[in-house]
Amino acid sequence: MDQFRFGFFILLCVFMHKFHAQQSYSGNSILNCSENDETGSSSAFLYTCNGEKPSCQAFLIFKSYPPYDSISTISNLTSADPLELAHINNISLSTIFPANKEVIVPVNCSCSGQYYQANTSYIIPSMQVDYFSIANNTYQGLSTCKSLNKENSDSGLQVGSVLQVPLRCACPTRNQTLNGTKFLMTYVVDWEDTIHDISKRFNASMESVGDANGIDLDDALIFPFTTVLVPLSTKPSSFQTIIHFQQPPASSPTTPIDVIKPSRKRFTVWLAIGVPLLALFLLLLLMFLHHKKTREAARKDKRKKWELPNDVLVSIDQNLKVYNFKDLEAATENFSNKYKMGASVYRGVLKGELLAIKQMSKAVDKEVSLLQRINHFNLISLRGACEHSGVFYLVYEFMENGSLKEWLQNKSCQKFQVRGYRIHIALDVANGLHYLHNFTTPAYVHKDICSDNVLLDRDLRAKISNFSLARSAEREDSRKSSMWSSLGTKGYKAPEYIEYGLVTPEMDIYAFGVLLLELITGKPAVFMQEEKEVLLSERILTIMKGENADAEIDRIIDPNLKGHLWMKLARQMLKLSIDCLAEEPESRLSMAEVVSYLLRIQLDAQRSEEPFPSEWR
Ligand SMILES: *[C@@H]1O[C@H](CO)[C@@H](O)[C@H](O)[C@H]1NC(C)=O
Ligand SMILES: *[C@@H]1O[C@H](CO)[C@@H](O)[C@H](O)[C@H]1NC(C)=O
Ligand SMILES: *[C@@H]1O[C@H](CO)[C@@H](O)[C@H](O)[C@H]1NC(C)=O
Ligand SMILES: *[C@@H]1O[C@H](CO)[C@@H](O)[C@H](O)[C@H]1NC(C)=O
Ligand SMILES: *[C@@H]1O[C@H](CO)[C@@H](O)[C@H](O)[C@H]1NC(C)=O
Ligand SMILES: *[C@@H]1O[C@H](CO)[C@@H](O)[C@H](O)[C@H]1NC(C)=O
Ligand SMILES: *[C@@H]1O[C@H](CO)[C@@H](O)[C@H](O)[C@H]1NC(C)=O
Ligand SMILES: *[C@@H]1O[C@H](CO)[C@@H](O)[C@H](O)[C@H]1NC(C)=O
Ligand SMILES: *[C@@H]1O[C@H](CO)[C@@H](O)[C@H](O)[C@H]1NC(C)=O
Repeated sequence: MDQFRFGFFILLCVFMHKFHAQQSYSGNSILNCSENDETGSSSAFLYTCNGEKPSCQAFLIFKSYPPYDSISTISNLTSADPLELAHINNISLSTIFPANKEVIVPVNCSCSGQYYQANTSYIIPSMQVDYFSIANNTYQGLSTCKSLNKENSDSGLQVGSVLQVPLRCACPTRNQTLNGTKFLMTYVVDWEDTIHDISKRFNASMESVGDANGIDLDDALIFPFTTVLVPLSTKPSSFQTIIHFQQPPASSPTTPIDVIKPSRKRFTVWLAIGVPLLALFLLLLLMFLHHKKTREAARKDKRKKWELPNDVLVSIDQNLKVYNFKDLEAATENFSNKYKMGASVYRGVLKGELLAIKQMSKAVDKEVSLLQRINHFNLISLRGACEHSGVFYLVYEFMENGSLKEWLQNKSCQKFQVRGYRIHIALDVANGLHYLHNFTTPAYVHKDICSDNVLLDRDLRAKISNFSLARSAEREDSRKSSMWSSLGTKGYKAPEYIEYGLVTPEMDIYAFGVLLLELITGKPAVFMQEEKEVLLSERILTIMKGENADAEIDRIIDPNLKGHLWMKLARQMLKLSIDCLAEEPESRLSMAEVVSYLLRIQLDAQRSEEPFPSEWR
């Protein structure tokens, strides 16, 4: 509880500065819905009318979330002009924002009584809301419970009734105007924000932001879900907005909110989420105790002889076999080279069925728990597992034609000449990824899509394998981890993953774009040219930007695809891959779109004179 007291002490220090400030920072006082402003204007309501003008243009930053993720719904929520909204965010009216994307909202801010406000209205959707949840959750802190209460005191909270919602905004003071400030932008602080980052991103000096909010930069604390004003000399622009990847608060006591003074950040979080955190902690404790009990009970019963670690034990269900190590040894003649197929993969006949056995020294529980829950023709199927003196063995269905990488290199293979297979393989991989991204719960990201991890069965049907890096696609921040940069396969890594370690389905889509290029050009993702390593994706993107693009492209397309119609299809696939390789993750196609484009290309191919393998019809 000491943290609480200390936190309040620091807050007091912040308020001491407010008398020199343009506006004063509210801190966590906006969380208290019972305060009043009878003795003068309070920062816990809205910003005070102290500007040069009684009304002005102002900007808010709103983070999209369904259903407020389109121009129409956000402009309805904030009463902003839809055309202006689309224009300033540089998007079309039909665009859907990805979750947690910052959206610039232009509003008319004007003085009403003692406070500045931008008026909007909100229709109460259900009985489950109160002023606090409307201000904090629906409007993300852009309004406050106190000002809602003040403006709607008589109407009450009836479902379907219209609430007047004043949004927090302000107009520049004379001093700010003299300093070149034209607009003030209301920014809602997120978990990982710092004054430093916010100022830098919106091209404002830290001093002017500190000044605008009465925040002493030497002792600064900002809290999530509170607003700060950012003085701007020009209108904000879409290139300054980002997608936030929110931290789950439970893991946040060690992650910063404001890292101007790292030693202080812990107190900030404690104060902001102290009570919820305590509740969460108790809940987790209860869940842990319960979990332990059930696990012990489970361990005591018939599964006693299982050798796998507990985590695997919990997740394995009846469909997966626990193999006997002796049987694996027998099937592979003590893992002899004769049965070796890859780095640590063996084939062997178990109970009359040819299977692949993969040896792994690291924990396999994640891969096992993922694979036992998914079931799709284009994802490799796991038959079972085995543990023997610290080494794990995963047993999979056997894929006769090995990896796509080998197949692309081994051009003598007869079926290699049948060009239709290229499209089918692409479509198989796309279908597998589409399933993984959209039809599993939770959705998963494979994280290591490459031609090595695509396997081909007897009929050259492709299946995605190696889920050892796969993880759920809940947008969490992996920047904490120092490991990410070394994971994944060279030549396939998306720029945002290399730079920030961001893990989203879009990184798989990027890697799929590279895989498509391999299928079209027959070249590996990384190849040597004039004794230098060249990334296939970079090479193609450079060619596309160059002057002689068309001729060069025709030259780089695999000669096996020659022929008028096939050149046309290959160019269509090339265009598709370029659309998967967009620098911005949100500009890439979705897997659903990829599948639909590929189906169309396949249809065109089937109309061709080419004799088609019967199993594909
Ligand atoms: C909320 O504000 C009221 C009035 O200023 C005050 O009496 C009360 O103690 C505050 N509550 C908390 C939890 O700070
Ligand atoms: C938002 O939409 C509702 C229902 O569609 C409508 O009644 C309301 O007037 C709209 N609000 C604004 C500010 O446009
Ligand atoms: C804001 O004010 C301008 C100029 O007064 C006006 O043209 C515009 O329609 C207003 N916008 C909204 C959303 O009220
Ligand atoms: C708007 O987007 C287009 C492409 O989507 C881009 O070329 C342009 O530079 C963007 N403009 C601004 C101001 O960001
Ligand atoms: C905003 O709402 C307040 C209170 O309902 C009202 O007094 C004020 O005139 C409104 N402002 C504008 C610009 O409509
Ligand atoms: C305020 O809203 C955010 C979401 O915008 C939510 O995560 C947070 O828990 C809310 N705070 C409280 C105290 O309910
Ligand atoms: C404006 O700046 C002057 C000189 O720096 C200062 O004396 C004055 O208090 C400032 N006014 C406000 C409202 O901050
Ligand atoms: C940032 O602001 C300064 C003045 O404060 C201006 O000279 C500069 O051009 C701005 N930079 C950008 C990228 O807007
Ligand atoms: C005005 O600019 C100066 C120098 O950049 C800065 O120190 C001061 O805090 C600014 N004042 C305001 C009101 O932004």
